[in-house]
Amino acid sequence: MSELRRIAVLGGGLMGSGIVHVSIVGGYSTVCREVGNAQCERAHTAVKRSLSKAMEKGELTAEARDAALNRVSFVTDLGSAASADLIVEAIVEDLAEKKALWSAVDMLAPPATVFASNTSSLSIAAQAAATRRGDRFIGLHFFSPVPVMQLVEIVRTVTTSDSTHALAHEFVRRIGKIAIDTRDSSGFVVNRLLVPYLLDAIRAFEQGVGSVRDIDLGMTLGAGVPMGPLALCDFVGLDTLHRVAESMYSEYRDSRFAPPPLLRRMIVSGYLGRKSGNGFYRYGGNEPEPNALMG
Ligand SMILES: NC(=O)c1ccc[n+]([C@@H]2O[C@H](COP(=O)([O-])OP(=O)(O)OC[C@H]3O[C@@H](n4cnc5c(N)ncnc54)[C@H](O)[C@@H]3O)[C@@H](O)[C@H]2O)c1
Repeated sequence: MSELRRIAVLGGGLMGSGIVHVSIVGGYSTVCREVGNAQCERAHTAVKRSLSKAMEKGELTAEARDAALNRVSFVTDLGSAASADLIVEAIVEDLAEKKALWSAVDMLAPPATVFASNTSSLSIAAQAAATRRGDRFIGLHFFSPVPVMQLVEIVRTVTTSDSTHALAHEFVRRIGKIAIDTRDSSGFVVNRLLVPYLLDAIRAFEQGVGSVRDIDLGMTLGAGVPMGPLALCDFVGLDTLHRVAESMYSEYRDSRFAPPPLLRRMIVSGYLGRKSGNGFYRYGGNEPEPNALMG
């Protein structure tokens, strides 16, 4: 098994910036590739913010934070990201975009480089098929917020080699996460169970079963979940949830995975959840407030 020293993260949004955080705290020299300078700046700010949060919680010293920040660079050039030992992709949940990116990276990366997708629901096999390295292709599915959530699903597809699988386990162990192995089946373990629940919460709201506040309070106080399902939808990002639901629905043709009409209406209206400042809640003040526009 080749030794991992340099990690590249493609995409520095919600998930990519979190993966950068755990990679640099884990001691890896890391490069994050984004599509423009403004996106690089935003990703850099997100990483600095989350490292400071970890420091405030006593998980990192100021020296460890500074050392971690010295291990990362943010680039727009794909070539400088492609030379890493492991490349983790966390761009938008769109198979055509992921395949186009992988096929471009495949032309630039050394043969030994291992590719990993953080997809929530798209086929690992289909992404691997866009490259000439099906044996060095795997899924590494992190959870949000990445620095906090312990789990990583390791998704082995039909072409993945034993050494790639072992390398993925080694990476997950070294960044202090706990791995579960799953098959390359849309949604893997966690989203297979979680996504129908989130979509059901939206349908319950859509059908007037309860208000945003009451549905979320019902589940936090009545079922003991740490965050209500509608708050969780906002946290995941309504656009991302919609893409995940679409891809699971197209794989299983099961109505449990079909995105509710309200979700589409919210997205076209620019309600993407936390990242746009509004969704089922509004995120202007100190505490999120149920979005009055949602009725
Ligand atoms: N949001 C979640 O809770 C969650 C959890 C697990 C996995 N995921 C998966 O992680 C991936 C990213 O999701 P996210 O929530 O971080 O989305 P996001 O919208 O926050 O970030 C995506 C980022 O990718 C960038 N990007 C787009 N094309 C790119 C390219 N060609 N090269 C480099 N950067 C590019 C965008 O500029 C954006 O910053 C998706 O596949 C999603 O399904 C999301």
